Amino acid sequence: MSFDVAAVRGQFPILSEIIDGLPVHYLDNGASAQTPLAVIDAVRHYETTGRANVLRGVHRLAERATESYENARAQVATFLGVPTMEIVFTGGCTAAINLVAYSYGSLLKPGDRILLSEIEHHSNIVPWQLLRSRAGIELDMLPVTTDGRIDLEALPRLLTPRTKLVSLAHVSNVTGALLDVRAVVEAAKSVGARVMLDGAQRAPHGPLDLPSLGVDFYAFAGHKAYGPNGIGVLWGRPELLDAMPPFMGGGSMIGRVTLAETTWAPSPRRFEAGTPAIGPAIGLGAACAWMQALDWTGAHDHEMALVQRLMDGLQKIDGTQIFGPASLQNRYPVVSFMLDGVHPHDVAQTLDSFGVAVRAGHHCAQPLMDRFDLDGTTRVSMAPYNDNSDIDALLAGVAHAAKTLR
Ligand SMILES: Cc1ncc(COP(=O)(O)O)c(C=O)c1O
Repeated sequence: MSFDVAAVRGQFPILSEIIDGLPVHYLDNGASAQTPLAVIDAVRHYETTGRANVLRGVHRLAERATESYENARAQVATFLGVPTMEIVFTGGCTAAINLVAYSYGSLLKPGDRILLSEIEHHSNIVPWQLLRSRAGIELDMLPVTTDGRIDLEALPRLLTPRTKLVSLAHVSNVTGALLDVRAVVEAAKSVGARVMLDGAQRAPHGPLDLPSLGVDFYAFAGHKAYGPNGIGVLWGRPELLDAMPPFMGGGSMIGRVTLAETTWAPSPRRFEAGTPAIGPAIGLGAACAWMQALDWTGAHDHEMALVQRLMDGLQKIDGTQIFGPASLQNRYPVVSFMLDGVHPHDVAQTLDSFGVAVRAGHHCAQPLMDRFDLDGTTRVSMAPYNDNSDIDALLAGVAHAAKTLR
């Protein structure tokens, strides 16, 4: 049976909005995806029937809230294929990477090295630069190929016995390229380095099996994976998390506090200081359950057919150039392009007048833009609820921009 995109669309009320007389052609999912009714209902259920703080009250509402919060942790764990108590709720993907940079980073010594790449989002660069300033570690950068992939041929040259961690985007937020995780893990292991993946752009495209990937840390954001804002996830190997000092201090993350000293709770509590984002965590759990139930074989084929339709259509418009893998192999539905002589912001503005939402600019990847001497790109990022009408509206808008702005 073919993938029923209409049935999926029907679960996202915002997609049938009319704004200023225009339909919603939402192709900015890489920035934030839309939220299905299952998530909206789960958050509403918590707010209307179980709102209380977690892990501290003895009354029934507190117990209900705690149960829902911990159930959300289990839903996220199932989505990632790992045990429940290995999931740490964070404020987002950025917060998860900062947690590792701070806490794992505090175990590193001056002269230790961390390997990143030129394709990374700023949130997988800046936390490590902050660590470099604090701790005297060194950063190395894998280059990027002209078709927008991390160049893994440089791994043997850049991995050294001082490399403690390799932290890379699982899927690029600019080019959609999928990382060859197996090759990275194998090479990193040969020098005893750990591997962290920034899964912000991969998690929204279906369940993962982290044990089979063989990585050590994995981070993603709720709002890009059909969940609420203000929530994200860090998964880490338990022996690593338990050896790491806390990132933030406060309530809930302690074993025992005296005025002289404090002991820490085991992970994940150690890393969840203060009242967590309870409603958003419950929403993210529902989003993971929603993704778990989707037919991803069908959804992936559908998303890739949209990528092909988009690429074929762009190639017919004079002056467009795609930045990223030309084939559908090892890529996800994020496509960046340039229109000769037209600034990406102007392209995006024209598209908005066609009801099409895209992202334009540097995509928080300024080093990548510098490397290819780009002002920016226009980025189309898709989700399973997108359909041919979204792509056709976009192509009509780009054709109009090509005719009127050049
Ligand atoms: C690849 C990648 N990593 C990290 C992030 C940061 O996510 P957040 O801002 O939700 O923390 C993003 C967001 O665009 C991203 O695309």
